[in-house]
Amino acid sequence: MAEKEYTETSEAQIAVHWGEEGYYMPSVKFIAQANMTDESIYDRFSMDNFPDCFKEYADLLDWYKYWDEILDTSDAPCYKWFKGGLLNVSYNCIDRHLAGNSNKTAIHFVPELEEEKIEHVTYRELWVRVNEMAAVLLDFCGLKTGDRVTLHLPMLPDLPVTMLACARLGIIHSQVFGGFSGSACGDRITDSGSSVLITMDAYYRGGKLLNHKQKADEAVGIAEKHGQKVDKVLIWQRYPGKYSASTPMVEGRDFFVNEVIKDYYGARVEPVKMPAEAPLFLMYTSGTTGKPKGCQHDTGGYLACVTATSKYVQDIHPEDVYWCMADIGWITGHSYIVYGPLSICASTVIYEGIPTYPDAGRCWRIAQDLGVNIFHTAPTAIRAFRKTGPEEPAKYNYEFKHMTTVGEPIEPEVWKWYYEVVGKGKAVIVDTWWQTETGGFLCSTIPAIKPMKPGSAGPGMPGIHCIIYDDKGNEVPPGKGIAGNLCIRNPWPGMFQTIWGDRDRFVRQYFEKYCKDSSSKDWRDWPYLTGDAAMMAEDGYVRILGRIDDVINVSGHRLGTKELESAALVVEEVAEAAVVPIRHDIKGVEPDIYVALKPGYEPSEEIAQKVNAALVREIGPIAKARKVWIVPDMPKTRSGKIMRRVLAAISNKSDVGDTMTLANPEVVEDIKKMVEN
Ligand code: WTA
Repeated sequence: MAEKEYTETSEAQIAVHWGEEGYYMPSVKFIAQANMTDESIYDRFSMDNFPDCFKEYADLLDWYKYWDEILDTSDAPCYKWFKGGLLNVSYNCIDRHLAGNSNKTAIHFVPELEEEKIEHVTYRELWVRVNEMAAVLLDFCGLKTGDRVTLHLPMLPDLPVTMLACARLGIIHSQVFGGFSGSACGDRITDSGSSVLITMDAYYRGGKLLNHKQKADEAVGIAEKHGQKVDKVLIWQRYPGKYSASTPMVEGRDFFVNEVIKDYYGARVEPVKMPAEAPLFLMYTSGTTGKPKGCQHDTGGYLACVTATSKYVQDIHPEDVYWCMADIGWITGHSYIVYGPLSICASTVIYEGIPTYPDAGRCWRIAQDLGVNIFHTAPTAIRAFRKTGPEEPAKYNYEFKHMTTVGEPIEPEVWKWYYEVVGKGKAVIVDTWWQTETGGFLCSTIPAIKPMKPGSAGPGMPGIHCIIYDDKGNEVPPGKGIAGNLCIRNPWPGMFQTIWGDRDRFVRQYFEKYCKDSSSKDWRDWPYLTGDAAMMAEDGYVRILGRIDDVINVSGHRLGTKELESAALVVEEVAEAAVVPIRHDIKGVEPDIYVALKPGYEPSEEIAQKVNAALVREIGPIAKARKVWIVPDMPKTRSGKIMRRVLAAISNKSDVGDTMTLANPEVVEDIKKMVEN
C-alpha cells in the first residue's frame, strides 16, 4: 500500500503554539476511595502484555462459557475478542445484580417538566420490563437473534428497556438520535435492513410536547422508497394509556407498545447465550463526507470495555448517583448511561429535556435533589452553563466528587471554570477522548493515579498505545510541540468490528493510510487512524486539536482551529468561539473568528479588538483574524457541536447547505445578514 498517494490535508508539522498547562491534583479524599489506585495497572497493560492484559477486563463480566482465545486476528483488521466465549449483555446488566441489589435504583428518570414526578426504576422493575419487552419482540414481532431493529426513541426509560430487551435476544439494535429527522431515520432503517421501527408518540423539549410519531411515518416512507419495507411500527406512549400525537395510527402497521405488552405481563424470556463476537448494536456516525456509517459493535469486547472504564475512569461506586447528561442516541449514552453503568450495578440518571429548561439552574437542582455526585457532560454544555448561568452552581447544595468532559476539545479557560464553579474546586475531572468507533474511552487520566491537565485528555488508557504519525508514517515523538495524526497501535476490546455492510470502507478509512502490509494478519501492521489531529506532550498526555479537517493553513503555518478558539476564550467577555478559514489570494487562507458573549455583555468594537489582541498575544500575528464577528449564538448540531462548516460557508459567501438538522437553524439567517452587510 506504500505507493498510494494521499491528497487529504496533511497533518505533519502543525505548529502548535499553546503552552503546557500545569497539573491539578485530585484530593486525598478522592484517592482514598477510588476504584483504581494501583499504578501498576499501566505495567500490567504494557505492550509486552498485550493482548492478555485484557483478561482483567473480561473478568468483570459473567460468562456462560469462558472464552478460549483472547484475540483472533485471522481476519485483520476485523478482530474477534474473547473468541469462544458466550455471554448475554442483558444478563450482565440486570439479572446478575438481582441477588444482592434487586431493590436498588437502576434508573432515576427525570421528566423535563419540573411538576412531573421523578421515577425510580429498581433493578427488579427493570428486569420485569425488559423481560416483557423481550417477549413482545420475540412473539409479537417475530424477531430473532441477528435481526436488526431501528429505535428512534427519546430520553425515557423505555429506551434502555428496549435496548436491553434486544440484547437479551441477540437482536441488533440501531438507535437513531431522537432529535434526528424522519428522513435521517429512514436512511438508517434502510442501511441496517430493519423491518421493525420502535418509536414514541411524543416527548418534551423546551417545555413543548413534540409530535415524534410523525417522523416515523416519514422514516417508513423513505425506507420503502429505498426498498426496505417496515412491517411494524411499535410506539411507546409518553403517557401510557393516552396517545399524545395528532398523527393517525396506520392500521395493521402501527401498534402501541403499552397495549401490546399487556398480553405479555409476567412473561419471562431466557437470555440468549451469545458468542462474544456477535454484534450487539449499530451506531451510525456521519463522516464529513459520504453516507452515514453504521459502526458495528460486538458483545463481549464492548461490554468488557465499558464495564471496566465505568468502574475505573468514571469511578462509580455502589452508593454513588451517576448522571451522564448525553443523549442515549449517541455513543456516549450507549456506553456511559446504559451499558457501562448498569453492568457495574450503578444508579444512572436519565433526563428527558434540555439542560437549561426552564432556567439555567435546572441541572443543579436535579443534582441536589437526587444526590448526584458523579457528573458527565460535554464542553458545549459547560460553555452554555458558563454563558447563561455562571452564578447558578453556587446556589445549590450538591457536591460532585467526579466530573467528565467529552466530545470535543475543551479550552483550558472553560476547563478551569468547570473545575472551580461546577465542581466547586472539589471534584476531579476526567477529559475522556474517544469516538463512536472506539466503543469506550481511549485517552483519559485514571483519576486517582494521574493528575489532571486542563485542555489535555491525558495519556492513553491502560492497554491503549497511542502514537502520532506525520504524513509519511514517521512517528512524531512526544514533547516536540508538533502535532500529527493520532493513531492507536493496537486493537482493543470495545473497538468497532466493521462498518455495517461495508468492510472496504472500514479498511480504507481507518487503516489503509498507515497499513504496513494489507495482507498481514498481524495487528502490528494495522495502526488505527483516528482522524483526529493531536499533539503528545513529554509526559505522554495527548492534546486533541480536532478533526483532521479542522486545521487551517495560514501562509504555510498550520493552525489548529481549537488553539485559536482557546485564545479567544481568554477574553473575559467571550463565552464561545469558532474559527473558520477564509480564502485569501496570498495567504491561502486566513481565519475569521465568530464569538458569542456571556450574558450581560453587549457587542462592541472594543471586544472585537480584545479578541484579536488575544489571538496575536497567545499565538502570534499570524493568527490575527480577518474579522471578528460577534454573534448572538453559534449554529449547533443537535448534539451541541458548533457547525464550523456553516460559518465557513457564510464567511466565504458560499452555499450554507442544509441547515435543517441544526438545533437552531434560525440563527444562521441572522449571522448571514450580519456578515453580508
Ligand atoms: C472529538 C464522542 C477532544 C474527537 C465520544 C473525536 C474529543 C470525535 C473528545 C468523536 C475529547 C471526543 N477531547 N476531542 N475529550 N472526545 N472528541 O464519534 O474529534 O461523537 O474524533 O464520539 O469527537 O465524536 P463521536
